[in-house]
Amino acid sequence: MSRSALMHKAQALLQREFPHSTSPHSTRQKSHPGDREYVVFAPGRVNLIGEHTDYNDGLVLPCALPLGTAIAVSPRDDGELHAVSGSGSTLRRERFSLQPVPAPLERGSWANYLRGMVAEMSAAGIDVPGANLAIVGDLPQGAGLSSSASLSVAIARALLALSPGAASNPPSNASIARWAQSSEHRYAGCLCGIMDPMAAACVAPGEALLLDCQDLTARTLAIPADWTVLIIDSGARRELVSGEYNARRAQCEAAAVHYGVRSLRELDSVTLNAARAVPDDTTFRRARHVVHENDRVRRAAEALAQHDLKMFGAALRDSHRSLHEDFEVTIPQTNELAEQTNRLIDRHAHGQGGARMTGGGFGGCIVAVLESAASARIVTALYRLGVNNIWTVSAESERPESSAPEANQR
Ligand code: GLA
Repeated sequence: MSRSALMHKAQALLQREFPHSTSPHSTRQKSHPGDREYVVFAPGRVNLIGEHTDYNDGLVLPCALPLGTAIAVSPRDDGELHAVSGSGSTLRRERFSLQPVPAPLERGSWANYLRGMVAEMSAAGIDVPGANLAIVGDLPQGAGLSSSASLSVAIARALLALSPGAASNPPSNASIARWAQSSEHRYAGCLCGIMDPMAAACVAPGEALLLDCQDLTARTLAIPADWTVLIIDSGARRELVSGEYNARRAQCEAAAVHYGVRSLRELDSVTLNAARAVPDDTTFRRARHVVHENDRVRRAAEALAQHDLKMFGAALRDSHRSLHEDFEVTIPQTNELAEQTNRLIDRHAHGQGGARMTGGGFGGCIVAVLESAASARIVTALYRLGVNNIWTVSAESERPESSAPEANQR
Protein backbone atom coordinates (compact mmCIF):
# COMPACT_ATOMS: atom_id res chain seq x y z
CA MET A 1 0.00 0.00 0.00
CA SER A 2 1.34 3.47 -0.79
CA ARG A 3 1.97 5.93 1.99
CA SER A 4 -0.93 8.14 0.91
CA ALA A 5 -3.28 5.14 0.66
CA LEU A 6 -2.26 4.16 4.20
CA MET A 7 -2.99 7.69 5.42
CA HIS A 8 -6.42 7.62 3.75
CA LYS A 9 -7.11 4.28 5.39
CA ALA A 10 -6.30 5.75 8.81
CA GLN A 11 -8.60 8.69 8.13
CA ALA A 12 -11.45 6.42 7.05
CA LEU A 13 -10.97 4.31 10.19
CA LEU A 14 -11.09 7.43 12.38
CA GLN A 15 -14.28 8.63 10.74
CA ARG A 16 -15.92 5.22 11.09
CA GLU A 17 -14.85 4.53 14.67
CA PHE A 18 -15.05 8.05 16.09
CA PRO A 19 -17.74 9.89 14.14
CA HIS A 20 -17.97 12.64 16.80
CA SER A 21 -14.71 14.18 17.89
CA THR A 22 -16.16 15.49 21.14
CA SER A 23 -16.80 13.17 24.06
CA PRO A 24 -20.29 11.78 24.64
CA HIS A 25 -20.44 13.85 27.86
CA SER A 26 -19.80 17.05 26.02
CA THR A 27 -22.47 19.33 24.71
CA ARG A 28 -20.12 20.91 22.19
CA GLN A 29 -20.16 19.44 18.72
CA LYS A 30 -17.59 19.83 15.99
CA SER A 31 -18.24 22.89 13.90
CA HIS A 32 -17.29 21.08 10.68
CA PRO A 33 -16.75 17.43 9.96
CA GLY A 34 -13.00 16.87 9.76
CA ASP A 35 -12.26 19.99 11.80
CA ARG A 36 -9.00 19.53 13.75
CA GLU A 37 -8.37 16.09 12.38
CA TYR A 38 -4.80 15.32 11.40
CA VAL A 39 -3.12 12.38 9.72
CA VAL A 40 0.55 11.64 10.36
CA PHE A 41 2.99 9.01 9.09
CA ALA A 42 6.25 7.60 10.45
CA PRO A 43 8.35 5.15 8.44
CA GLY A 44 9.93 1.84 9.34
CA ARG A 45 13.57 1.33 8.53
CA VAL A 46 15.96 -1.20 7.16
CA ASN A 47 19.42 -1.03 8.65
CA LEU A 48 22.00 -1.17 5.86
CA ILE A 49 24.90 -1.68 8.27
CA GLY A 50 25.93 -0.98 11.86
CA GLU A 51 24.22 -3.76 13.82
CA HIS A 52 24.23 -3.85 17.63
CA THR A 53 26.39 -0.76 17.65
CA ASP A 54 23.78 1.85 18.62
CA TYR A 55 23.60 0.93 22.31
CA ASN A 56 27.41 0.91 22.36
CA ASP A 57 27.50 4.59 21.33
CA GLY A 58 28.58 3.50 17.84
CA LEU A 59 27.76 4.21 14.19
CA VAL A 60 24.75 3.04 12.19
CA LEU A 61 23.47 3.47 8.63
CA PRO A 62 19.71 2.84 8.46
CA CYS A 63 17.53 3.68 5.48
CA ALA A 64 13.90 4.75 5.96
CA LEU A 65 11.19 2.73 4.24
CA PRO A 66 8.03 3.97 2.60
CA LEU A 67 6.28 1.28 4.67
CA GLY A 68 5.28 2.49 8.11
CA THR A 69 2.50 3.59 10.44
CA ALA A 70 -0.21 6.16 9.70
CA ILE A 71 -2.37 7.63 12.45
CA ALA A 72 -5.44 9.80 12.08
CA VAL A 73 -6.22 11.78 15.20
CA SER A 74 -9.01 14.01 16.49
CA PRO A 75 -9.43 15.78 19.84
CA ARG A 76 -11.52 14.68 22.84
CA ASP A 77 -12.36 16.96 25.71
CA ASP A 78 -12.81 14.37 28.48
CA GLY A 79 -9.11 13.85 29.25
CA GLU A 80 -9.12 10.33 27.78
CA LEU A 81 -7.28 8.65 24.99
CA HIS A 82 -9.24 6.23 22.82
CA ALA A 83 -7.43 4.23 20.16
CA VAL A 84 -8.25 1.65 17.57
CA SER A 85 -5.59 -0.16 15.62
CA GLY A 86 -5.51 -2.54 12.67
CA SER A 87 -8.19 -3.44 10.19
CA GLY A 88 -11.06 -5.84 9.58
CA SER A 89 -11.45 -8.59 12.16
CA THR A 90 -8.06 -7.86 13.74
CA LEU A 91 -9.11 -4.49 15.14
CA ARG A 92 -7.68 -3.83 18.61
CA ARG A 93 -9.00 -1.21 20.98
CA GLU A 94 -7.61 0.66 23.95
CA ARG A 95 -8.85 3.50 26.15
CA PHE A 96 -7.47 5.09 29.26
CA SER A 97 -7.48 8.32 31.20
CA LEU A 98 -4.47 10.61 30.79
CA GLN A 99 -4.46 11.34 34.55
CA PRO A 100 -2.86 9.74 36.42
CA VAL A 101 -0.15 8.80 33.93
CA PRO A 102 -1.07 5.32 32.61
CA ALA A 103 0.83 2.31 33.95
CA PRO A 104 2.18 -0.44 31.68
CA LEU A 105 -0.01 -3.47 30.97
CA GLU A 106 1.31 -7.03 30.84
CA ARG A 107 4.41 -7.66 28.71
CA GLY A 108 3.61 -8.05 25.02
CA SER A 109 0.51 -5.84 24.98
CA TRP A 110 0.48 -3.50 21.96
CA ALA A 111 -1.16 -0.79 24.06
CA ASN A 112 2.07 -0.41 26.04
CA TYR A 113 3.46 1.63 23.14
CA LEU A 114 0.55 4.04 23.50
CA ARG A 115 0.76 4.20 27.29
CA GLY A 116 4.54 4.51 27.21
CA MET A 117 4.53 7.44 24.78
CA VAL A 118 1.88 9.28 26.83
CA ALA A 119 3.99 8.75 29.95
CA GLU A 120 7.22 9.94 28.27
CA MET A 121 5.62 12.98 26.69
CA SER A 122 3.95 13.97 29.97
CA ALA A 123 7.27 13.59 31.81
CA ALA A 124 8.85 15.89 29.21
CA GLY A 125 6.29 18.56 30.06
CA ILE A 126 4.04 18.13 27.03
CA ASP A 127 0.41 18.81 27.81
CA VAL A 128 -0.85 15.59 26.21
CA PRO A 129 -4.36 16.26 24.91
CA GLY A 130 -7.37 13.93 25.03
CA ALA A 131 -7.55 12.25 21.64
CA ASN A 132 -9.08 9.62 19.39
CA LEU A 133 -6.48 7.73 17.37
CA ALA A 134 -6.99 5.43 14.39
CA ILE A 135 -3.79 3.51 13.71
CA VAL A 136 -2.92 1.51 10.59
CA GLY A 137 0.43 0.15 9.46
CA ASP A 138 1.90 -2.00 6.73
CA LEU A 139 5.17 -3.10 8.33
CA PRO A 140 5.45 -6.81 9.08
CA GLN A 141 5.92 -7.31 12.82
CA GLY A 142 8.94 -9.13 14.18
CA ALA A 143 10.73 -8.90 10.82
CA GLY A 144 13.42 -6.49 12.03
CA LEU A 145 11.96 -3.51 10.13
CA SER A 146 11.22 -1.49 13.23
CA SER A 147 7.47 -1.55 13.38
CA SER A 148 7.51 -0.54 17.06
CA ALA A 149 9.65 2.59 16.59
CA SER A 150 7.50 3.58 13.63
CA LEU A 151 4.38 3.20 15.82
CA SER A 152 5.90 5.12 18.74
CA VAL A 153 7.09 8.04 16.61
CA ALA A 154 3.73 8.20 14.81
CA ILE A 155 1.94 8.32 18.20
CA ALA A 156 4.13 11.24 19.27
CA ARG A 157 3.48 13.12 16.03
CA ALA A 158 -0.27 12.53 16.28
CA LEU A 159 -0.51 13.79 19.87
CA LEU A 160 1.77 16.75 19.13
CA ALA A 161 -0.49 17.75 16.24
CA LEU A 162 -3.27 18.39 18.80
CA SER A 163 -1.09 19.79 21.56
CA PRO A 164 -1.49 23.57 21.90
CA GLY A 165 2.08 24.24 23.07
CA ALA A 166 3.80 22.08 20.45
CA ALA A 167 2.97 24.34 17.52
CA SER A 168 4.84 27.32 19.00
CA ASN A 169 7.64 25.27 20.58
CA PRO A 170 8.00 22.00 18.66
CA PRO A 171 10.21 19.33 20.22
CA SER A 172 13.24 18.21 18.21
CA ASN A 173 13.30 14.93 16.29
CA ALA A 174 15.97 13.71 18.72
CA SER A 175 13.62 14.39 21.66
CA ILE A 176 10.85 12.42 19.99
CA ALA A 177 13.31 9.57 19.34
CA ARG A 178 14.43 9.62 22.99
CA TRP A 179 10.84 9.40 24.22
CA ALA A 180 10.24 6.43 21.92
CA GLN A 181 13.39 4.69 23.12
CA SER A 182 12.58 5.27 26.77
CA SER A 183 8.98 4.11 26.29
CA GLU A 184 10.27 0.89 24.74
CA HIS A 185 12.61 0.36 27.71
CA ARG A 186 10.07 1.12 30.42
CA TYR A 187 6.79 -0.06 28.91
CA ALA A 188 7.70 -2.76 26.36
CA GLY A 189 10.69 -4.20 28.21
CA CYS A 190 13.22 -4.11 25.38
CA LEU A 191 16.45 -2.20 26.10
CA CYS A 192 16.77 -1.10 22.47
CA GLY A 193 19.14 1.57 21.15
CA ILE A 194 18.36 4.92 19.56
CA MET A 195 18.77 3.92 15.88
CA ASP A 196 15.20 2.88 15.09
CA PRO A 197 13.35 5.88 16.53
CA MET A 198 15.96 8.26 15.05
CA ALA A 199 15.42 6.70 11.61
CA ALA A 200 11.63 6.91 12.06
CA ALA A 201 11.82 10.53 13.25
CA CYS A 202 14.50 11.99 10.95
CA VAL A 203 14.72 10.30 7.56
CA ALA A 204 12.60 10.49 4.45
CA PRO A 205 11.77 7.21 2.69
CA GLY A 206 14.62 6.02 0.47
CA GLU A 207 17.28 8.09 2.24
CA ALA A 208 20.03 6.67 4.45
CA LEU A 209 21.11 8.25 7.73
CA LEU A 210 24.70 8.03 8.91
CA LEU A 211 24.13 8.41 12.62
CA ASP A 212 26.68 8.68 15.39
CA CYS A 213 24.84 7.31 18.41
CA GLN A 214 27.31 8.89 20.83
CA ASP A 215 26.16 12.45 20.23
CA LEU A 216 23.33 11.93 17.71
CA THR A 217 25.09 13.87 14.98
CA ALA A 218 23.70 12.69 11.68
CA ARG A 219 24.21 13.06 7.96
CA THR A 220 21.67 12.15 5.30
CA LEU A 221 23.07 10.19 2.37
CA ALA A 222 21.34 9.53 -0.92
CA ILE A 223 21.24 5.99 -2.24
CA PRO A 224 22.79 6.15 -5.75
CA ALA A 225 20.24 6.05 -8.55
CA ASP A 226 21.54 2.77 -9.99
CA TRP A 227 21.63 0.88 -6.67
CA THR A 228 18.74 -1.15 -5.36
CA VAL A 229 18.06 -2.24 -1.79
CA LEU A 230 16.26 -5.56 -1.43
CA ILE A 231 14.65 -6.60 1.84
CA ILE A 232 14.23 -10.35 1.77
CA ASP A 233 12.07 -11.93 4.45
CA SER A 234 13.36 -15.20 5.87
CA GLY A 235 9.89 -15.82 7.29
CA ALA A 236 11.49 -16.88 10.59
CA ARG A 237 10.09 -15.14 13.67
CA ARG A 238 11.30 -15.90 17.13
CA GLU A 239 9.53 -15.29 20.40
CA LEU A 240 11.22 -13.75 23.45
CA VAL A 241 13.82 -11.99 21.35
CA SER A 242 13.99 -9.14 23.84
CA GLY A 243 15.58 -11.59 26.32
CA GLU A 244 18.39 -12.41 23.87
CA TYR A 245 18.71 -8.77 22.91
CA ASN A 246 18.98 -7.56 26.51
CA ALA A 247 21.56 -10.29 27.17
CA ARG A 248 23.75 -9.05 24.29
CA ARG A 249 23.53 -5.55 25.64
CA ALA A 250 24.61 -6.72 29.10
CA GLN A 251 27.55 -8.63 27.57
CA CYS A 252 28.70 -5.49 25.75
CA GLU A 253 28.48 -3.48 28.96
CA ALA A 254 30.53 -6.15 30.73
CA ALA A 255 33.11 -5.98 27.93
CA ALA A 256 33.36 -2.20 28.30
CA VAL A 257 33.94 -2.59 32.04
CA HIS A 258 36.59 -5.21 31.37
CA TYR A 259 38.50 -2.95 28.98
CA GLY A 260 38.05 0.07 31.22
CA VAL A 261 36.17 2.20 28.69
CA ARG A 262 32.88 4.06 29.10
CA SER A 263 31.39 2.30 26.07
CA LEU A 264 32.73 -0.03 23.37
CA ARG A 265 32.80 2.97 21.04
CA GLU A 266 35.96 4.06 22.85
CA LEU A 267 37.74 0.75 22.24
CA ASP A 268 40.07 0.48 19.23
CA SER A 269 41.35 -2.73 17.66
CA VAL A 270 44.83 -2.33 19.14
CA THR A 271 43.52 -2.18 22.70
CA LEU A 272 40.99 -4.90 21.92
CA ASN A 273 43.73 -7.39 21.11
CA ALA A 274 46.49 -6.06 23.33
CA ALA A 275 44.71 -6.09 26.64
CA ARG A 276 46.99 -7.88 29.04
CA ALA A 277 44.17 -9.92 30.45
CA VAL A 278 42.09 -10.87 27.43
CA PRO A 279 38.53 -11.47 28.65
CA ASP A 280 36.69 -14.75 28.29
CA ASP A 281 36.01 -15.83 24.74
CA THR A 282 32.38 -14.68 24.57
CA THR A 283 33.12 -11.23 25.98
CA PHE A 284 36.05 -10.86 23.58
CA ARG A 285 33.99 -11.80 20.52
CA ARG A 286 31.13 -9.46 21.47
CA ALA A 287 33.60 -6.58 21.78
CA ARG A 288 35.38 -7.53 18.54
CA HIS A 289 32.08 -7.43 16.64
CA VAL A 290 31.28 -3.92 17.87
CA VAL A 291 34.77 -2.50 17.23
CA HIS A 292 34.95 -3.92 13.70
CA GLU A 293 31.31 -3.12 12.88
CA ASN A 294 31.97 0.58 13.56
CA ASP A 295 34.85 0.39 11.07
CA ARG A 296 32.61 -1.32 8.55
CA VAL A 297 30.02 1.48 8.84
CA ARG A 298 32.78 4.01 8.10
CA ARG A 299 33.86 1.94 5.09
CA ALA A 300 30.28 1.58 3.85
CA ALA A 301 29.62 5.33 4.14
CA GLU A 302 32.83 5.97 2.22
CA ALA A 303 31.75 3.45 -0.44
CA LEU A 304 28.37 5.17 -0.72
CA ALA A 305 30.07 8.54 -1.23
CA GLN A 306 32.43 7.05 -3.84
CA HIS A 307 29.66 5.10 -5.52
CA ASP A 308 31.65 1.89 -4.97
CA LEU A 309 29.21 -1.01 -4.81
CA LYS A 310 31.89 -3.66 -4.57
CA MET A 311 33.32 -2.07 -1.42
CA PHE A 312 29.84 -1.49 0.03
CA GLY A 313 28.90 -5.12 -0.61
CA ALA A 314 32.10 -6.41 0.98
CA ALA A 315 31.29 -4.49 4.17
CA LEU A 316 27.81 -6.08 4.25
CA ARG A 317 29.21 -9.58 3.79
CA ASP A 318 31.81 -9.07 6.54
CA SER A 319 29.11 -7.73 8.83
CA HIS A 320 27.03 -10.88 8.41
CA ARG A 321 29.99 -13.13 9.16
CA SER A 322 30.70 -11.19 12.33
CA LEU A 323 27.04 -11.27 13.44
CA HIS A 324 27.12 -15.03 12.90
CA GLU A 325 30.49 -15.90 14.43
CA ASP A 326 31.17 -13.19 17.00
CA PHE A 327 27.82 -11.77 18.00
CA GLU A 328 25.79 -14.97 17.46
CA VAL A 329 22.48 -13.40 16.53
CA THR A 330 21.92 -15.19 13.22
CA ILE A 331 19.95 -18.42 12.81
CA PRO A 332 20.33 -21.16 10.14
CA GLN A 333 17.57 -19.63 7.96
CA THR A 334 19.16 -16.16 7.86
CA ASN A 335 22.64 -17.62 7.33
CA GLU A 336 21.44 -19.69 4.39
CA LEU A 337 19.45 -16.86 2.84
CA ALA A 338 22.36 -14.40 3.11
CA GLU A 339 24.67 -16.99 1.52
CA GLN A 340 22.24 -17.75 -1.31
CA THR A 341 21.74 -14.04 -1.99
CA ASN A 342 25.48 -13.38 -2.06
CA ARG A 343 25.92 -16.28 -4.50
CA LEU A 344 23.22 -14.82 -6.77
CA ILE A 345 24.90 -11.39 -6.63
CA ASP A 346 28.17 -13.06 -7.65
CA ARG A 347 26.51 -14.90 -10.52
CA HIS A 348 24.17 -12.21 -11.88
CA ALA A 349 25.89 -8.97 -10.82
CA HIS A 350 29.60 -9.84 -10.98
CA GLY A 351 29.88 -9.55 -7.21
CA GLN A 352 28.76 -5.91 -7.30
CA GLY A 353 26.96 -5.77 -3.96
CA GLY A 354 26.33 -7.91 -0.91
CA ALA A 355 23.78 -9.20 1.56
CA ARG A 356 23.53 -9.69 5.31
CA MET A 357 20.98 -10.13 8.09
CA THR A 358 19.44 -6.88 9.27
CA GLY A 359 17.91 -5.76 12.58
CA GLY A 360 18.25 -7.35 15.99
CA GLY A 361 18.62 -10.87 14.61
CA PHE A 362 17.21 -14.31 15.50
CA GLY A 363 15.15 -14.34 12.31
CA GLY A 364 13.65 -11.51 10.30
CA CYS A 365 15.04 -10.13 7.08
CA ILE A 366 18.14 -10.06 4.90
CA VAL A 367 19.14 -6.75 3.35
CA ALA A 368 20.93 -6.80 0.01
CA VAL A 369 22.37 -3.85 -1.89
CA LEU A 370 23.10 -4.44 -5.57
CA GLU A 371 23.07 -3.02 -9.09
CA SER A 372 19.54 -2.11 -10.13
CA ALA A 373 20.17 -3.72 -13.51
CA ALA A 374 20.56 -7.16 -11.90
CA SER A 375 17.80 -6.81 -9.36
CA ALA A 376 14.90 -8.37 -11.33
CA ARG A 377 16.90 -11.51 -12.15
CA ILE A 378 17.97 -11.93 -8.53
CA VAL A 379 14.47 -11.37 -7.19
CA THR A 380 13.10 -14.02 -9.58
CA ALA A 381 15.80 -16.47 -8.52
CA LEU A 382 15.02 -15.86 -4.84
CA TYR A 383 11.33 -16.57 -5.34
CA ARG A 384 12.30 -19.79 -7.11
CA LEU A 385 14.28 -20.72 -4.00
CA GLY A 386 11.06 -20.42 -1.98
CA VAL A 387 11.30 -16.89 -0.50
CA ASN A 388 7.81 -15.46 0.11
CA ASN A 389 8.30 -11.73 0.56
CA ILE A 390 10.78 -9.32 -1.00
CA TRP A 391 10.52 -5.55 -0.86
CA THR A 392 12.48 -3.44 -3.32
CA VAL A 393 13.62 0.09 -2.51
CA SER A 394 15.41 2.08 -5.18
CA ALA A 395 16.02 5.77 -5.71
CA GLU A 396 13.10 5.99 -8.13
CA SER A 397 10.56 4.00 -6.14
CA GLU A 398 8.31 6.16 -4.00
CA ARG A 399 7.49 2.98 -2.11
CA PRO A 400 8.89 -0.54 -1.97
CA GLU A 401 7.49 -2.79 -4.62
CA SER A 402 6.92 -6.43 -4.11
CA SER A 403 6.28 -8.94 -6.80
CA ALA A 404 4.93 -11.37 -4.20
CA PRO A 405 1.16 -11.38 -3.98
CA GLU A 406 1.33 -12.05 -0.23
CA ALA A 407 3.45 -8.99 0.38
CA ASN A 408 0.90 -6.70 -1.22
CA GLN A 409 -1.67 -7.75 1.32
CA ARG A 410 0.34 -6.75 4.35
C1 GLA B 1 16.98 -3.62 17.25
C2 GLA B 1 17.06 -2.43 18.19
C3 GLA B 1 18.05 -1.38 17.68
C4 GLA B 1 19.39 -2.01 17.34
C5 GLA B 1 19.21 -3.26 16.49
C6 GLA B 1 20.50 -4.01 16.28
O1 GLA B 1 16.43 -3.26 16.03
O2 GLA B 1 15.79 -1.83 18.31
O3 GLA B 1 18.20 -0.37 18.63
O4 GLA B 1 20.14 -2.27 18.50
O5 GLA B 1 18.27 -4.16 17.06
O6 GLA B 1 21.38 -3.25 15.55
